[in-house]
Amino acid sequence: MVISIASDHAGYELRQAIVSHLEQKGHQVLDRGALSSKEPYSYVQAGRLVAKDLSEGSAERGIAICGTGIGISIVCNKKRGIRCALCLNECMARLARQHNDANILAMGARVVGVSLAESMVDTFLSETFDGGRHRERVDDIE
Ligand code: RB5
Repeated sequence: MVISIASDHAGYELRQAIVSHLEQKGHQVLDRGALSSKEPYSYVQAGRLVAKDLSEGSAERGIAICGTGIGISIVCNKKRGIRCALCLNECMARLARQHNDANILAMGARVVGVSLAESMVDTFLSETFDGGRHRERVDDIE
């Protein structure tokens, strides 16, 4: 699967860990955003990059990381067709796919550890949309 991932400076280190994790699993990764954790890089710019990859069809799923995940998820959700879910645990990552057909997973590097983040990513990428009663609601968002 082609995955776009972007972060600001606060999410840089977690993003590096997630990129390695995704590559080990055989995914193709579009790695976007901050070039280090030292230089400030706006979550607004990072969010726009991952949202653009999704909306242009360059990636099938996205991962967006900032300090809390809040700012970057707000930015991603400004773009039509993006359903970005800020998740704190595997249950949220699973339901974001099953009920909301979320296409971007947002996480906070200051909120979750690497191991939990990897588990959320795996869940988010493997789960599918349930459709049915959830389809009408998701369509209604647009
Ligand atoms: C950067 O310090 C921080 O504000 C940002 O990563 C994020 O948490 C914003 O929502």
